[in-house]
Amino acid sequence: MDGHIPRLVLIFILLVISGFLLFILNIFMESSIHSSFKPPEILWPLEVNHTYCAHFGQEPTAEEAKEERDLLNSIAWPGPMVQGLPVELSSDPAKSYFVIQGSSKQNIGGQLLVNVHVQNFLGLPKDHGGDFLIARLHSPELGAGVAGKVHDHNDGTYTVLFPLLWAGEAWVEITMVHPSEAVVVLKRLQEEQPDRVFFKSRFQSGALSETTVCNLCLPLNQKPLCNYTDPLTGEPWYCYKPEMLGCDTRINHYKGGYKKNLITEYEAQFFQSDVNIKIPIPASAMDKVTVLPAERGQAKVKNHYISAGYYFHGTWRPLNGAVIRRFNHSSAITHCLRGKAVYMFGDSTVRQWSEYLTSSLPNLKLLTLYSSNKTGPFMVLDSRNNILMSYRCHGPPIRFTSVLSSELRYVANELDKIQGGPDTVVLLSVWSHFSTFPVEIYIRRLRHIRRAVVRLLNREPATLVVIRTANLQKLDPENSLFNSDWFSLQRDAVLHAMFRGLRVQLLDAWEMTLAHHLPHHIHPPHAIIKNMIDVILSHICPVRKI
Ligand SMILES: *[C@@H]1O[C@H](CO)[C@@H](O)[C@H](O)[C@H]1NC(C)=O
Ligand SMILES: *[C@@H]1O[C@H](CO)[C@@H](O)[C@H](O)[C@H]1NC(C)=O
Ligand SMILES: *[C@@H]1O[C@H](CO)[C@@H](O)[C@H](O)[C@H]1NC(C)=O
Ligand SMILES: *[C@@H]1O[C@H](CO)[C@@H](O)[C@H](O)[C@H]1NC(C)=O
Repeated sequence: MDGHIPRLVLIFILLVISGFLLFILNIFMESSIHSSFKPPEILWPLEVNHTYCAHFGQEPTAEEAKEERDLLNSIAWPGPMVQGLPVELSSDPAKSYFVIQGSSKQNIGGQLLVNVHVQNFLGLPKDHGGDFLIARLHSPELGAGVAGKVHDHNDGTYTVLFPLLWAGEAWVEITMVHPSEAVVVLKRLQEEQPDRVFFKSRFQSGALSETTVCNLCLPLNQKPLCNYTDPLTGEPWYCYKPEMLGCDTRINHYKGGYKKNLITEYEAQFFQSDVNIKIPIPASAMDKVTVLPAERGQAKVKNHYISAGYYFHGTWRPLNGAVIRRFNHSSAITHCLRGKAVYMFGDSTVRQWSEYLTSSLPNLKLLTLYSSNKTGPFMVLDSRNNILMSYRCHGPPIRFTSVLSSELRYVANELDKIQGGPDTVVLLSVWSHFSTFPVEIYIRRLRHIRRAVVRLLNREPATLVVIRTANLQKLDPENSLFNSDWFSLQRDAVLHAMFRGLRVQLLDAWEMTLAHHLPHHIHPPHAIIKNMIDVILSHICPVRKI
């Protein structure tokens, strides 16, 4: 007993001394930094308001609540680490660097390890994680590229892992999408400003017309609400009640706009196009390796744990063993789709597939019930070959220009109306319009869709269901606050986890846009869409069936 007391005293003294040293260091740092940046104006409360939307929508069951907790834990992102950090001390991609591990010559079948050291604007190492990095290994002359897996060590360093899949010179490309300090701002917006994209509906009765604001959740006890909660799924949707008209006179739904002034001038410094949004991190020395053919007797690495696939000669090759056929001519596409019904549900990124197929095929008849072939619903028919394709957007929140309120349908309910079978193909994409809401909202939507997919596969197991994941997009200071790839990354992870183990095909749009050399865009360029369509058609018409 007695022997322990001096030790405790010693520890106490050490703590006091180190605390004092930190204090002195802090004063020294603050006084020595010549600031060209704005000082923090407001310290945000550490505790964000998670309850904003909780009073709307159904209570999850115990099992659903557990799944939700596990999913949220699996995407937990570190931070905030420090409040009101001077911008000079935030992560600077230009002052950070990466180091390729191992020799400059490596073999196919192995893995390339790259260490990333993140530093601040003063060139000093960061001591915490949370920066959002993406990584690509590529050989421009071979049209080859693969996405890397980034591991955050939570100490300012990161390890990136790439599978080595082709021979030749391969360049490492590491990009900081956002510094950790910007991710903290995005986390705050996600919880506190879920209505930063807002929606409207017009109500009409005879000559009377009114417009009100609508959303998944609206403040209670302020103004009377119209409750448009879906009776089948329980998905909530509300509009403020018009002053004169009744709730049953709603005629349409459209994107009202994007809220302004969401962040302070101080926070805006973490979102600068040429400084810290999607900026490459330079190599400390070597930025490429030479990949040699596999060595004899070399152990095989299970690469599909690292990447979903890679490009070679500009064409996508999945690592799950699926053989991809190329459908270069309309005759090949027609031949594959003959006698099929292809139902597309979701956002504009699945509509893009419909547009690709429609422009590739001759003799199609487009049937739109209403004026717009953008918002849908529409149908495309090739009566000679008995091909039917249809598109319908997913239920609200949907940021389209204007959809008839009678055409606002939830994917889960639409799936329940489909018979299914070997000639039925269902293509889904539900991600982009959820980026401004807390992840719980997305989990709930996917849960309803997943149940409907399971019911469909139970009644007709031969139905092909392809689910498209989120993709990277072009970011600037403004759209980062609404559509950042960080929001998409989190939803992408949730989608993968929630459909794992089901007999559906996940089309990894994230990696297909990350591994490709063309710039990121919410609607990926034609070359990438062609690869996606080849993947889908290869599932519809696999090699063994020709
Ligand atoms: C969070 O939001 C709820 C509902 O809007 C409100 O009642 C509560 O006071 C808020 N809490 C904080 C800490 O802002
Ligand atoms: C809206 O309607 C749904 C289902 O009819 C109900 O469960 C929910 O409590 C209602 N919301 C409000 C705020 O009254
Ligand atoms: C399709 O086009 C690609 C690229 O031009 C070519 O390499 C491939 O051989 C073609 N495949 C078929 C089946 O026509
Ligand atoms: C959709 O409508 C626009 C404008 O009317 C037209 O230019 C476009 O070709 C149409 N798209 C399809 C796929 O029919």
